[in-house]
Amino acid sequence: MKELLKKLTLKEKLGQLTQLAPHFFNEQLKAKLYGKIKDLEINYEELFYLGSILGIGGPKEKKELQDLYLKNSKSKIPLLFMGDVIHGCKTIYPVPLAQACSFNVELVKENAKMAAREAKAFGLDVTFSPMSDLVRDPRWGRVIESYGEDPYLNYSFSKATAKGYQEEGLISCVKHFAAYGLSEAGRDYNTVDLSRVNLFNYYLSGYQGALEGGSEMVMTAFNTFEYLPATINRYLLTNIIRENWGYDEAVIIADYDALLQTKAHGVTKDDKDAAVKGILAGLDIEMASTAYLRTLEAAIKKDKRIIKAIDEAVLRVLKLKEKANLFNNAFSGDDKLLAELINSKEHQNLSYQLAVESVVLLKNENNILPLNKNIKVALLGNYATSNDLLGAWSWYGDTSQTKALNDFFEVEYLSNGEDYQDYDLEKIKKIEAIILTLGEEAKESGEARSKANINLKYSQVKLIKKLKKLGKPLILILFSGRPLILTEIIKDVDALFNVFFLGSNSSKAIYDLVYGSVNPSGKLAMTFPRSVGQIPLYYNHLRTGRPFLNDGNPYSSHYLDEKNEPLFPFGFGLSYSSFVYEDLKIDKSSFTLDELPTIKITILNESKFAGKEVVMLFIKDEIASISRPVKELKQFKKVSFQAGERKEISFKLKYQDLAFYNQDLNYQVEAGDFLVMVADKSLKITLKGDENEDFK
Ligand code: NOJ
Repeated sequence: MKELLKKLTLKEKLGQLTQLAPHFFNEQLKAKLYGKIKDLEINYEELFYLGSILGIGGPKEKKELQDLYLKNSKSKIPLLFMGDVIHGCKTIYPVPLAQACSFNVELVKENAKMAAREAKAFGLDVTFSPMSDLVRDPRWGRVIESYGEDPYLNYSFSKATAKGYQEEGLISCVKHFAAYGLSEAGRDYNTVDLSRVNLFNYYLSGYQGALEGGSEMVMTAFNTFEYLPATINRYLLTNIIRENWGYDEAVIIADYDALLQTKAHGVTKDDKDAAVKGILAGLDIEMASTAYLRTLEAAIKKDKRIIKAIDEAVLRVLKLKEKANLFNNAFSGDDKLLAELINSKEHQNLSYQLAVESVVLLKNENNILPLNKNIKVALLGNYATSNDLLGAWSWYGDTSQTKALNDFFEVEYLSNGEDYQDYDLEKIKKIEAIILTLGEEAKESGEARSKANINLKYSQVKLIKKLKKLGKPLILILFSGRPLILTEIIKDVDALFNVFFLGSNSSKAIYDLVYGSVNPSGKLAMTFPRSVGQIPLYYNHLRTGRPFLNDGNPYSSHYLDEKNEPLFPFGFGLSYSSFVYEDLKIDKSSFTLDELPTIKITILNESKFAGKEVVMLFIKDEIASISRPVKELKQFKKVSFQAGERKEISFKLKYQDLAFYNQDLNYQVEAGDFLVMVADKSLKITLKGDENEDFK
């Protein structure tokens, strides 16, 4: 690739670092764009310098575009096609936040492989996924795209997802580097401010997971880090990714228009300034703007570092194109193969399996569920007949092919009315249980979909209260793109399934769960607060010097008008089985890092239902050089149990389970006591050594 690089003119090089949507090749579509990007300030001929394309409508459009491009381009270096395949291409599986609730890393990886096969057949070379932003604020609309609030869960799912894509030859671009999930007050594109200790211990783990899983690209975040936008932040892009972590070939791309938005941040004065700061920070590709192409030529004369940075960036892009096999096959994509894949049993089954495992049963009073098939039911609410079940970021998914709940449920009475007045009460009085479906619409979450009020809608609360008065068992199936505040209605429903959005096979999964042919096994990957005022609320918080002990001391950390506890904590989720955690054991409670202990727990499935249980191991570092969280998830296993089966599960402790970044950002373990917790059991372990001894 170095030879090819040498042959390129400066303009051709800068073109390789520029990405635009296909719209720009089409005057009619261009007219629909918003804002300044409409006017790219380049002429039509210059489009044939481009290096990559954002989004494509399928293999046919890709072939036409690639063909047009190669005919007109002088360098004849094929375009790379990138797009957002977030939770499936055509076959849609659960949204990432729901996936994380499955705690099933292998299954998520298999679904990512499925997405990759379809995306490649669709004509894409790169997907902008996983989104590895750690989240703690459900007001932020993009929590739906995340794996929730836990750094280790985020690490595990980011890694599995990236691996799945890459193993099938689809390039993964992890995003949004870094800490975009910390947008202040949950408002999208807002300020982010965090310490390096926080960044390294919690916020970076997801991106690290994806890169370890094989992601070959990184997308920058819209936000600032240490008061400098991520897109031109050399500390983030070069020092951390390339130097500290050693991913020197990773191609870094700006998020949409983010390079020029540095002007609005007030840190660059014009396009040229933004371009210079971007390239010198280590930003390779500019998305949806053309500042590199237009301005860097004039800038290189003044600063020799610029041409060096350009050459390095172009080389990285060319190598990526080589890895994508573009020089041998610029026209990949296959409609026929795509159709076969979508209709294959394997793909449908994968998305169904993950849908089943992603659902979280939050309440099941008097074991009303699983429902007996002989019970006469009414199916009510706006999701009763809807096929709009795919959730945000399912561009290529087809809702017309998605079955609605009423395609599965046999009901005495059906209505998709959203209001009590819509229902025939005489008919409802004759039934034995109500299945009510409601929540948020798909368009209420995702990018730019932040909310200040995340209570269940008032009209829906009212509806639940009225239906409750009928005295029939009330089963709520709740769709949403974020944890909603359910405090007002939780007492009124007998059973509650939280589903978020489950994709193409949602309805069958929900039907099978309600009637018990499958057993719920999902656990919350994100805390459900009791009220908005508690946010940010997450399980792995630090300790406080004045903890609330409920002893009447007013000078303790608490609210006057609300509890500290959430409505449902991270890790919560019921099953039709009843799992009893019996005996927590350790082979040595005092140990050295050369001989880490093994922890064992015996669990009994004391029920007549076979089921899966997520066994989670948490650790608390009792005393350290900096304050450490009250508990942190360090390992987990999803284990199948037959009815009545007892099993012993073991966890071999790892260095990483005890390590953290200290104030000097050294990753280390400190000698002393740790508390190990599995469900309601705990034991103390001690790492031998001087308390001030650090182990690198
Ligand atoms: C903006 C979003 O922030 C990002 O996640 C997405 O990948 C790009 N647009 C491209 O669509």
